[in-house]
Amino acid sequence: MNKKIENILNIQVDKEAFSSRLYLAMAVWAEINGLSGISEFLYTHSEEERMHMLKLVKFINERGGVAKISAIEKPKSEFNSVEELFSDLLNHEIMITNSINEIVHTCLKEKDFTTHNFMQWFVSEQMEEEALARTIMDKIKMIGEDKGGLYLFDRDINKIQSQNISPQVN
Ligand code: FEO
Repeated sequence: MNKKIENILNIQVDKEAFSSRLYLAMAVWAEINGLSGISEFLYTHSEEERMHMLKLVKFINERGGVAKISAIEKPKSEFNSVEELFSDLLNHEIMITNSINEIVHTCLKEKDFTTHNFMQWFVSEQMEEEALARTIMDKIKMIGEDKGGLYLFDRDINKIQSQNISPQVN
């Protein structure tokens, strides 16, 4: 496989691995702070990021490259509030979206249409993840300092669907 593409995909493997560990650290913080719904949401999200990483790993190997598993930095594990945690999560997803877009751009430049096609799954996934994170942030801002609101949010977070996504036209 094209070395340039292999390298950027391997960088993305690290980013997805980091996302998984960041959301795991967030899940732990939520759990020890008595927010069981939020922690469950984040444990699931952490697992999904691991699946994203694996999807890339398998693709690199199947295409004749070598997936690299490197040391990754320690994620932030202390948050001052639920708002800070989800604001970090949204910003992180925006960074990941930019990174995916950069890969798609490089695939076109390098005329690697197979990887370009493969990456479309990530493009859609990022659109959904970012929309969900924005919906969650809107709800958290609405709750403000209301403890009762936070209680209900924690109870119901796993039922929240993103509302910002435009219907698919197929
Ligand atoms: Fe795999 Fe949420 O980025």
